[in-house]
Amino acid sequence: MPEVPVITIDGPGGAGKGTLSTRLAEHVGWHLLDSGALYRVVAYAVQQAGMQVADAEQIARVVRELPVSFQSGRIIWQGMEITAAIRTEQIGNLASQVAVLPPVRAALLDWQREQACAPGLVADGRDMGTVVFPQAKLKIFLTASAEERAKRRHQQLEQRGITANISSLAATIRERDERDQQRVHSPLIPAQDAVLLDSTHRTIADVFNGVLQLVRKRGL
Ligand code: C5P
Repeated sequence: MPEVPVITIDGPGGAGKGTLSTRLAEHVGWHLLDSGALYRVVAYAVQQAGMQVADAEQIARVVRELPVSFQSGRIIWQGMEITAAIRTEQIGNLASQVAVLPPVRAALLDWQREQACAPGLVADGRDMGTVVFPQAKLKIFLTASAEERAKRRHQQLEQRGITANISSLAATIRERDERDQQRVHSPLIPAQDAVLLDSTHRTIADVFNGVLQLVRKRGL
């Protein structure tokens, strides 16, 4: 069977990976894997069950039977829609704590790989190019300064009518980056063969056009 082509888009939160991956998947007509959402669902389940982050094995058991389904952008957990509920800063932070646990990462590996179906997959996350899909045809590592990412996050929250403080958002972002970069298993680092892109002074539309050129150059 021919191998299903994969494009990976890794990088820290707020760099624009989500928008870029969604647009790219739509443009090329491929499937989309938002692996961050998966870690967020695990965090949500941990929170709802009142489990301790220290209990890695118990969390991994829950992950193996996670009653979740992704339905065209909607996330259903135990029959309940949690699409918006998993997008809070609190769940993002808890997600980065459960993401440190090797049994949890191991339990999510096969499910993520199974998402690589024809005609292809755009996979968004932290370790897509290094661990989950090392054979990917194109690997992008998208960054932006912590200040810029805090500014974007602030704008997003304001649009939703939520007041937030930029400097405390920047502090949370730095804390999460540090945890993601320092962890022993699958840390946030670019794959050796990744193309590094910095979106600090670029619009996502501009980054998208640059990535499209790379996609064409590689014949994808
Ligand atoms: O991308 P998002 O902010 O939704 O991810 C939430 C958290 O999930 C990240 O901070 C990271 O700790 C974890 N994550 C991960 N590996 C991935 C995707 C997300 O460890 N592939």
